[in-house]
Amino acid sequence: MTKQHLLWWVKAVIHLLALTPITLNYYWSITDQNGADPVKAIIHFTGIGALNLLIITLMVSLIAKYFKKAWFMQTRRLIGLYCFFYAATHVLNFWWFELNFQFTLFIEELVKRPYIWLGMSGFVILFVLAVTSPFFAKRKLGKNWQLVHNWIYPASLLVWIHFYWSRKADITEPLIYLLIILSLLWFKRDKIGRWLKPNTRT
Ligand code: HEM
Repeated sequence: MTKQHLLWWVKAVIHLLALTPITLNYYWSITDQNGADPVKAIIHFTGIGALNLLIITLMVSLIAKYFKKAWFMQTRRLIGLYCFFYAATHVLNFWWFELNFQFTLFIEELVKRPYIWLGMSGFVILFVLAVTSPFFAKRKLGKNWQLVHNWIYPASLLVWIHFYWSRKADITEPLIYLLIILSLLWFKRDKIGRWLKPNTRT
């Protein structure tokens, strides 16, 4: 099998793995098979899904480097876009099913629940990364493209705080996620260091 064929198959599997669970979850919610509170269930599912996909996006370059499979890097854009897709459905579900598209209620939520601010900041970053992900945007941004896309690192922390803060009781799961995110950031410490100290950039 050529690398192009392999990449095609890997991308097909990514589409399948990303689209099947979200479709099933909506189906279960609509047909009342998603627990006592189907709206909460779908908000939680898409939120965790977006966070998982964000973490996988951060892992892609490490996996490609470790297994010496440079072609694997070409899956990162697709996984990143699915992260944005899950995050967008998460926000939309909240705004639609919980707030009935009422902007004033959204402002009230922002005042009442500060963790929403953090989710929104994370979402704004993911939005910018998604709209600057096409190849023409990459060409246009040139060297600045990487600087813009490094914002995925602060986004991972903002989303984590949003997740942690939204949990009222058991924090075991958020702590496991924190460990994973901090390990990934540690692996990328040189790149992050160069980004934060522009004088040392090559
Ligand atoms: C405007 C932006 C956002 C809003 C309004 C929002 C809203 C919410 C709400 C209402 C909850 C449920 C809290 C509860 O159980 O009471 C939640 C949980 C969560 N959100 Fe968001 N969110 C936003 C952005 C994001 C983004 C960008 C991500 C990930 C990339 C994310 C990931 C999560 C996670 C992981 C949870 C916890 C789910 C769970 O406990 O199972 N959120 N969010």
